[in-house]
Amino acid sequence: MKIYVTRKIPEAGIKALKDKNYEVDISAKDGVLTKEELISSLKQKPYDAVLCLLTDKIDAEVFDAAPSAKIFANYAVGFDNIDLEAAKKRGIMVTNTPDVLTEAVAEHTVSLMFTLSRRVVEADKFMREGKYAGWAPMLFLGDTIAGKTVGILGLGRIGAKVAYSLIKGFGAKVFYYDIKRSEEFEKNFEPGAIEYKNNIDEVLKNSDFVFIHLPLLPQTRHIIDKSKLAMMKPTAYLINTSRGAIIDEQALVEALKNKTIKGAALDVFENEPRLAAGLTELDNVVLTPHIASATEETRSKMSEIAAQNIIDAVGGKVPKNLVK
Ligand code: GLV
Ligand code: GLV
Repeated sequence: MKIYVTRKIPEAGIKALKDKNYEVDISAKDGVLTKEELISSLKQKPYDAVLCLLTDKIDAEVFDAAPSAKIFANYAVGFDNIDLEAAKKRGIMVTNTPDVLTEAVAEHTVSLMFTLSRRVVEADKFMREGKYAGWAPMLFLGDTIAGKTVGILGLGRIGAKVAYSLIKGFGAKVFYYDIKRSEEFEKNFEPGAIEYKNNIDEVLKNSDFVFIHLPLLPQTRHIIDKSKLAMMKPTAYLINTSRGAIIDEQALVEALKNKTIKGAALDVFENEPRLAAGLTELDNVVLTPHIASATEETRSKMSEIAAQNIIDAVGGKVPKNLVK
């Protein structure tokens, strides 16, 4: 079996493929392959499987460059980088790496929330600039989460983990929106601690902290636009670790500038690696470079899972993480 890997990833998954005596070719470029580079790499050999990343745009032309491939195993939980219709037409399986990154992403999400609400980045800068002149009663006042209302948009694995931590750990109250209510999940909490809302507006209007945990789909692109931002409380914070294009990033910059909302923390951006004009000039925003799943443990497990999906698919089995 011949496997193509579009960029160096942690060794565990590569080892699993090599242990099967598969021939594994890894792109030598330390960067994202351009579409032309990806296509010509795939044409080198009749690859049976491709391990790709969320930064690879996989469309019909790319699939056609790998006519022997049974599977494109995405090294990510999200799969908005892959044209699923085109895969289906060609009978190519697509898989993702869910579950193993839930904790890491939820942990980063919560840490972004505190970094923002307790002004950690601003305070750190202040210290390094030598401005600290001693404890002061009004220095860097932030916001407490205990007793506040947290809005969760999307109660998947990650959204649920964030909701659970904030209710159980910090005494927040949660309003959540999803396409369906999860009464099973609600049973984890005291009455009144969590409430389902069947529309996004209700969550936005009533929350002090809003977390986005929706997948990027045509229906969710720019779902948070100028009008939705205007519904939020002027004291509210927005935290996004899902996909950048769910928010109209330029509208967010305007809302942050005009103090329509109090602040935002973002790990994902609409046009990565580019940022919307003006974003980095704002003090009320915390930015990280799409690292929510980036822990040693998680990235290693993601490589194992992606490899296992390939091993199953080329062995004639249905991989566990088949995306439908
Ligand atoms: C990261 O953004 C992922 O989808 O795994
Ligand atoms: C991802 O694993 C999610 O369901 O949120």
